[in-house]
Amino acid sequence: MNKDLQPLQADRPDIITTKVEAIGFYRKMDTEATVNEMIAGKYVLVEEFYSNGLQVLAELKRKLLLTHTDKSFQGQRAYRDAFREASHRLLLKVEDNKLIVKKAPTIGWLTLLYPEVSEFYISFPDVQGMNSSWQWYEKGIEVKTLNLMLHPYYGTYFPTRFDHLKLFDKWLKKYEGSKENAIEIGVGSGVLSFQLIQNGFQNIFASDSNKNAIIGVTEETKRLGYEEKITLNHGDLFDNCDVKADLIVFNPPWLRAKHTLEEGIDKAMYYEEDLFPRFFEQAKEHLAPEGKVVLIFSNLAQVVDAESPHPIIEELRNNKRFKKELHLTRDVRASSRRTKRRDSRETEKVELWVLGAK
Ligand SMILES: C[S@@+](CC[C@H](N)C(=O)[O-])C[C@H]1O[C@@H](n2cnc3c(N)ncnc32)[C@H](O)[C@@H]1O
Repeated sequence: MNKDLQPLQADRPDIITTKVEAIGFYRKMDTEATVNEMIAGKYVLVEEFYSNGLQVLAELKRKLLLTHTDKSFQGQRAYRDAFREASHRLLLKVEDNKLIVKKAPTIGWLTLLYPEVSEFYISFPDVQGMNSSWQWYEKGIEVKTLNLMLHPYYGTYFPTRFDHLKLFDKWLKKYEGSKENAIEIGVGSGVLSFQLIQNGFQNIFASDSNKNAIIGVTEETKRLGYEEKITLNHGDLFDNCDVKADLIVFNPPWLRAKHTLEEGIDKAMYYEEDLFPRFFEQAKEHLAPEGKVVLIFSNLAQVVDAESPHPIIEELRNNKRFKKELHLTRDVRASSRRTKRRDSRETEKVELWVLGAK
C-alpha cells in the first residue's frame, strides 16, 4: 500500500518532442566536424547504427581532452561538465517507443516511462543510462541473504556489494525484541525491508525521497506477495509516519556532499549536512520505549579523508538522545578486479550501529 493517494509519476530523462533542428549523422561523415558543431551548440541526430553514437562520443571525448588538460579537481570537473553538456546534444529518434537506428538495444523503459508519447528524440547518454538500468531490471540481482532476485526500478539505488546486507542479516537473526512495527527510511530497492519481512516483522512503514524507489518497491511487493506487510511513502524521512516502531532502520548515504544535490540517485550516495541531525531528532519521536535504531554505515568517508566527520559518532557525542548498544564492523570484500591492486578500499569496512533511547 502506498500512503500517497495520487499515483506517482516516475522521474525520467527529458525528451524532445518538438522537431528540433538537428544535423543528421551517418557513419561515413566527418566525425570531427560533427563534434565541432555539437560543441558549438548544434543538435546531431544519429541516423544509421547505434554504434555511430559511440563513435561520436569517443571523438567528443578526444576533442575536449585536447583543451581540458588541467588535471586538478576543478579542471576535471570542468571537463566533465563540458562533456555532459555537449554529449546531450547527440540525439536518437524513438518511434513506437523503440529506437529506430540499426543494431540498437531494446529498452523497455522507453515504453514504461513514456506512456503518453511514442515518438520523440532523446539524448544518447540518457539512452545509455536507461539501457544499463534495463539490463539490471530484466536480469535481476541475486541477493543471497534473501534468497530472491531484486528488480531495481529505473533511477533507484540498488546494492552491488553485499557485505552490509550480511552484517544486517547476522544481527537480525539474533534479534529477540518485538517484531510488531518497523520503519525503514530510504527503502531504495526494498532489500532491507524484505529482510525484515523474511525475519518475521509484521508491519513495515518504508519511505524514500526518491519517487522511483517507491514506484519500484510497490511493484516488487506485489510480485513477492508482501503487500499486506508494507506501507510505502514518498517523502522526506518520517513524513506521514504515525507509527512508534520497535525498530527503525536506515542505510543512509555514506558521503557528505560537497555539491548541490540533485533529486534521485544522487541522494542515495551523498548527504547534506542537516540529514543526520534531522533523522535522529525524528527517530527519537518514532521509537517505541524499548525500540532500537539500526544504522548501516561505512568508514568510506574516513578512508578517503581521515578528517571527515562521522555523523553517528557526532550524534552520540553531542546529543543526549541515544546511547550506543552495539557497533559491528565487517571488512568489505575486495571485488576480483581489485584484488591485485593496493587501493584505499583495502581498509574499507561496513558498520552496523544499534542505538537505544537514553
Ligand atoms: C544508500 S541508499 C539505501 C537503499 C536501500 N535501503 C539499501 O540498503 O540498499 C539510501 C536511500 O535513502 C534515500 N534517502 C536519502 N535521503 C532521504 C530522505 N531525506 N528521506 C527519505 N529517503 C532518503 C535515498 O533516496 C536512497 O534510496
